[in-house]
Amino acid sequence: MTALDLSSPVAVVGTGTMGQGIAQVALVAGHPVRLYDAAPGRARQAADAIGARLDRLVEKERLTADERDAARARLRPVDELTGLAGCALVVEAVLERLDVKQELFRALEDVVPDDCLLATNTSSLSVTAIGGALRAPGRFVGLHFFNPAPLLPLVEVVSGFATDVTSATRAYETARAWGKTPVACADTPGFIVNRVARPFYAEAFAVYESQGADPATVDAVLRESGGFRMGPFELTDLIGQDVNESVTHSVWRSFFQDVRFTPSLAQRRLVESGRLGRKTGHGWYDHGEGAERPEPHTAEPAEPPAYVVAEGDLGPASELLALIREAGIEVREEDEDNGTRLVLPGGGQLVLADGQTSVEFRDVVYFDLALDYRGATRIALSHARNTSPATVAEATGLFQALGKKVSVIGDVPGMIVARTVARIIDLAVDAVAKGVATEEDVDTAMRLGVNYPLGPLEWSRRLGSGWACSVLDNLHQCDQSGRYAPSLALYRHAYASDRREGTS
Ligand SMILES: NC(=O)c1ccc[n+]([C@@H]2O[C@H](COP(=O)([O-])OP(=O)(O)OC[C@H]3O[C@@H](n4cnc5c(N)ncnc54)[C@H](O)[C@@H]3O)[C@@H](O)[C@H]2O)c1
Repeated sequence: MTALDLSSPVAVVGTGTMGQGIAQVALVAGHPVRLYDAAPGRARQAADAIGARLDRLVEKERLTADERDAARARLRPVDELTGLAGCALVVEAVLERLDVKQELFRALEDVVPDDCLLATNTSSLSVTAIGGALRAPGRFVGLHFFNPAPLLPLVEVVSGFATDVTSATRAYETARAWGKTPVACADTPGFIVNRVARPFYAEAFAVYESQGADPATVDAVLRESGGFRMGPFELTDLIGQDVNESVTHSVWRSFFQDVRFTPSLAQRRLVESGRLGRKTGHGWYDHGEGAERPEPHTAEPAEPPAYVVAEGDLGPASELLALIREAGIEVREEDEDNGTRLVLPGGGQLVLADGQTSVEFRDVVYFDLALDYRGATRIALSHARNTSPATVAEATGLFQALGKKVSVIGDVPGMIVARTVARIIDLAVDAVAKGVATEEDVDTAMRLGVNYPLGPLEWSRRLGSGWACSVLDNLHQCDQSGRYAPSLALYRHAYASDRREGTS
């Protein structure tokens, strides 16, 4: 099955933000494109807006003037749905309402030829439910573009329950021919990206709700230690708190209120207060004229220890030993079966966040997971009430000597990066096990759809496949709500890799 022929007309119905972007993509790829919108005059306005964007592409020398003129000549707004007769593909990007989309596709079935591919750009509705209204749902597929469609490469090609393999393949190949990176996925709440990404927001909000750290500190730790391009608080201010919350609600409801997707009370209050983010001038942060961005909590300079004793294998944090030596601090290595930690000269211990609370331990400081300890510019530390100030100072001085800023946060099990990454890995592994998409497609979707520094499966391989399961097991012991209970798939993932590594 090949992509649609470039001479085949493509229709875009609903010419708002997404419709215009998708139309531009199909147009620049070389198709004749027709635009239809229910609001009178809107399709014509959209054609003008697309024309203006093509002009900008010419100015940026990404399109020649001849190519722009030819593209403009291929673009045609129509006033009636019947103007879409003869199209080979219709991509719908209208209001996000099931009844509106179903009614539209029912009407389209009477207009377009029998072999016309019908696609929805819905981000939260069930593709199966929209297609369920059709006489011939086999040709109906989800084509989920990301905003802005001309710039973002990812397209989730969603097969509903009744979608024919040939239709899904044709949609996939067509997206690829348009220069996009398609990923194939089953019709599940949130598809790949919006399903697997939920903990990125939820865990940050949970840390904030438990008074573990303020938004600026959580954002800084996830950026500077986790390697994420933006933190969840600043990102949701950009997306719009109402939009982000509505995706969370939709995924949670669609999973029959699965506790792993429970929305955040703090975000609910923010939305109720009308603080929707940049668009209202205030969200988690104040975006008003001249407003100053709060600084993340950063510890004052402290004396580094003269040496550390490294006991056992530090696992994902092993790289630290080389960094400590490079900073001129002696590392005394001791084999130890009884745990893995750095012991400080004063007797205090530094332990990588493992999902446990430090309440039960004496004189322990936890440090958070980093994507790459060498590249990280900030490290979060947490400790119990009974940890001595001298131990916290030694731990702070140690990371500062490695050139890192230090943020001391509250005693939050799993800290910030570790709990977030562990939960993302769990949802990714679970999605693969449930046939939502392949490992490769899940990784591609998360890197391209939300700019994650690594795909979750790749991340899990780097951390050791049992790492996420063990962190979540510990978090589950602290929390007991089920939110952190590792999926069966994650247990299998951990066990299978243990077997491969021959550790029993
Ligand atoms: N905005 C995003 O970031 C984004 C990203 C991915 C997917 N989506 C999905 O894309 C779709 C469109 O979103 P948008 O942000 O472009 O919305 P939008 O409000 O910018 O545009 C929707 C357009 O559809 C038109 N419309 C409404 N009902 C119609 C009908 N029955 N027939 C024809 N036209 C109709 C409206 O007049 C409007 O021009 C939604 O399903 C949304 O979930 C949005």
